[in-house]
Amino acid sequence: MQRLTLRAAVLAALIGLAGFAGSANAAPDPARGQQFFTAKHGREWSCSSCHTATPTAEGKHANTGKPIEPLAPAANPKRFTDAAKTEKWFRRNCNDVLGRECTADEKADVRAWLAGLKP
Ligand code: HEC
Repeated sequence: MQRLTLRAAVLAALIGLAGFAGSANAAPDPARGQQFFTAKHGREWSCSSCHTATPTAEGKHANTGKPIEPLAPAANPKRFTDAAKTEKWFRRNCNDVLGRECTADEKADVRAWLAGLKP
């Protein structure tokens, strides 16, 4: 009987943790965002493979060679004005670069770094 209660408590704690991990909980950190953006995550590409390591500049698709408008709002005011578009591309690009979706914290860090870049 007691064992059952313990198991239930552990399970509840795990479920709680999983829910917590999905929400933004750390303060956005531009330096961490830059590091995340320019590093590879065990696959072929980093974010900077297509968006360059200075995303105030025009990027270039690593596969197709097609130009990509700058990702930093200072250089491209249209960026991050359409939440559906932003989320769609975060989902797609994170899957390409990490093999999973980015967490809320990772996205907040990247956005904080991009928002602070000067043209
Ligand atoms: C294989 C090339 C490629 C890689 C790698 C890549 N992107 Fe992109 N990204 C694109 C393209 C193409 C678009 C859509 C065209 C556009 O908006 O100019 C885009 C658009 C975006 C947008 C939409 C911004 C907006 O609201 O207008 C965000 C955010 C973004 N990328 C973030 C990232 C992040 C973060 C990474 C790394 C995890 C990454 N990208 C890696 C090609 C790439």
